[in-house]
Amino acid sequence: MRSSATLIQWGLMFSKIASITLPIFTLVLIGFLYSRRVKLDEDARKNLFPSNERLKTAGTWAMKIKAVVFDAYGTLFDVYSIQVLAESFYPSQGADIAIKWRDKQIEYTRLITQSDPHNVSGSQYFRPFWELTRLSLEYTLDRLKLDRQSGQVEKLMQQYAHLTPFAENLAVLQKIKAKGLTTAILSNGSVDMLTSAVKSAGMEDVLDHVISVDPIRLFKTSPESYALVQQTIPVNKDEVLFVSSNAWDALGATWFGFTTHWVNRQGLPFEALTPKPHFSGADLNSVLSSLNLWATHELQTDC
Ligand code: LAC
Repeated sequence: MRSSATLIQWGLMFSKIASITLPIFTLVLIGFLYSRRVKLDEDARKNLFPSNERLKTAGTWAMKIKAVVFDAYGTLFDVYSIQVLAESFYPSQGADIAIKWRDKQIEYTRLITQSDPHNVSGSQYFRPFWELTRLSLEYTLDRLKLDRQSGQVEKLMQQYAHLTPFAENLAVLQKIKAKGLTTAILSNGSVDMLTSAVKSAGMEDVLDHVISVDPIRLFKTSPESYALVQQTIPVNKDEVLFVSSNAWDALGATWFGFTTHWVNRQGLPFEALTPKPHFSGADLNSVLSSLNLWATHELQTDC
């Protein structure tokens, strides 16, 4: 009898303690969770992203971007728009010329960079991108056995200096600048051709820096070329969102350590090499999504 009375006493005491402590514990827990949420909301408002570190949570990433750096040719300026003029000179061959011309131009940049990669003053074979653009056009016309008696090379090169920008680009750049982020171009392009393209696209006021690989005499995807960004803008690698529509460039920049966004304008599969860029989308507007969807955007890197 005595032991069951003791048990009842213990039970009563326990339920008394529980009735006092449980609500207190619940209130403390709710308070803690609420303050965490408010903190994340504040961070999101202030910085776009909640933390300097890239935080991985259940398939989502949060990150903090300070600078958005764009590739130029193919990303801001439409290299294949040249096919219209090429077509007018060489009927039914415009598209083929534009593709072969671009492929040869990029092939030359790789040939030059890979053939003398460790020279402290850059590749001894370096030629400015403008010259490579002309040489690759000459090669393309030779390969297709097309004549150039009527100044076609000069006219195509003039057009290349003022390539059509993609329609959405200027507005996207304006929005990114309005967010207070630093904006820049990092391009294989030589200084003069970049200056002319930026000017004719009306992008001078929305780009803080136009960075050319000219001074290092090595082209992308050399690490030295991507390192030019941090020599110009004081940021950590993963605070750079590097944007390119060239899959090889997006991959090189990802390998380098940038946060990357691939603009997949042609609906192509990404390179078979990994990792995939962190973000991708069909046009430059998708970059705005990458910057805003910090809490929900699916991570693609681990694919
Ligand atoms: C650029 C070219 C290669 O660097 O797309 O702008």
